[in-house]
Formats: sequence, structure tokens, C-alpha cells
Amino acid sequence: MKKELRKAVIAGNWKMNKNPEEAKQLLSEIAPLVKDAGCEVIACVPYIDLYAALEATKGTNVKIGAENCYWEKSGAFTGEVSAKMLADIGVPYVIIGHSERRTYFGDTDATVQKRVRGALDEGLTVILCVGEYLEQRELGITAEIVSMQTKIALQGVSEEELKRLIIAYEPVWAIGTGKTATADQAQEVCKLIRDVVAGLYTKEAADALTIQYGGSMNAKNAQELLSKEDVDGGLIGGASLKAPDFAAIVEAATKG
Ligand code: PGA
Repeated sequence: MKKELRKAVIAGNWKMNKNPEEAKQLLSEIAPLVKDAGCEVIACVPYIDLYAALEATKGTNVKIGAENCYWEKSGAFTGEVSAKMLADIGVPYVIIGHSERRTYFGDTDATVQKRVRGALDEGLTVILCVGEYLEQRELGITAEIVSMQTKIALQGVSEEELKRLIIAYEPVWAIGTGKTATADQAQEVCKLIRDVVAGLYTKEAADALTIQYGGSMNAKNAQELLSKEDVDGGLIGGASLKAPDFAAIVEAATKG
């Protein structure tokens, strides 16, 4: 119904994989396979690969993103990379609030909000991840958790800035486990996120927001997930490291 208002976005999340040489190789395999994509195609890569990835995708329709960023512009923050540093080298996208950052590296709803703010301030487009743990789903509090994560992260984000934000619904129990949410489960939560955004902003803003599903999306299940009304794309981990699989997902998104 409203799907035509939004751009489908397929983003790879390479996580802690590939050195710069390997990144160049993989991107050179991906680029020709997705050159006619009817959706946006992004590869989010480790910091160390960003330069090589930007270089390797020049003149192609593959865009590059980072996997995290810090909100301060510069200073005594050993080991961090700022949103400004990403913007300075021409990185257009950044993933924020991935469950692995939340689970292993202490990211909280409050720090996710600061990262979102910092990234938007530098002109980046944010892929904001939200999603529940298995115990939370079993407790029946998925809607509460995902609404809370969304509301806190969007605190202080204007309706204009929302145009530079994508939300990825990633149930934590589906990430890297081979256990995909059913298309109906994905649809239900993506719709819920859209309703939350409509409540915070306007229906128009919510209808224009790209909402991805992530969690064991692959060449086989992508079509069904992406056919759902409120699922506008995917954030792809494992399958983004294999060019033919990633290209098949892009193809599925192109079909819609
Ligand atoms: P997966 O990862 O596709 O390997 O489950 C998705 C993600 O973590 O973004």
C-alpha cells in the first residue's frame, strides 16, 4: 500500500571480517552483480577497510558504511572513531546500536541515542538497530522493548533528520543463528516500529521510513520476508560475505 513511498535498502554488515585486500576482492565481486539493483545497496565494513572499500566502489552503485561510531568529534577517547572522522573521509552510512555492540561492548539505549545524535550532526545516514532477546520475546514484551529502544534512540531527532535514518529490526535470537523470524513475525514488529514512529512524528514521516529486517536473512528466505508490507529491506550479516548470496538478496529486494 505504502511500500512504493519508500526506498528498499539492502545493507551488508560484515562485522569483524575481511582485511582491506579481502574487502577489495569481495566488493569487486559484488559490484557487477548488483549494478542494476532497484534498491539501495550498502556494505558496512570494519573501520580498517573503509578506505579500501570507498576506493573499490567508486563509480559503482554500492555505498559504504561503518559499523559504529563515537559521538564526540575528537579527543582523549582511546580506540574510538568519531562520526566526524567517518564523515571526513566520505563514509555516508553508519550502523548504530547493533545488538553485538549492546551485548558485548556496553552500548545502552542512552549511548545509542548519543551515537545517533553524533552521526546525524555529521551528515551521516544512520542504520539504527533495535530488537529483543529470546527471553524478552518469550515474556511477551517484544513490543515494549522495541518501542522503548526506538523512542530513546530517536530522542531529539527532527522529522527532517528522520529522512537520514533507517531502522533495522533485528531480533537478537535470529542473528547468526540460522533461526530466521517468520515473515509474519518480521512484519508484525516492523509495523509496530512504524506505528511508534507515526506516534512520535507524523504518519507521512512513518510511511516514508525505511525499515529493514535483519537476522539470518539469506538468498532463500529473502523474497518472502521482503514481500511483507512493512519490511523494506534487510541488514545482512553472514550472507553479505558471499557475493552471489548477497546479490540474490538484492535481486529479491528489487522485485519487492
Ligand atoms: P546475520 O546477521 O545475517 O548473520 O544473522 C545480521 C546482523 O547481525 O546484522
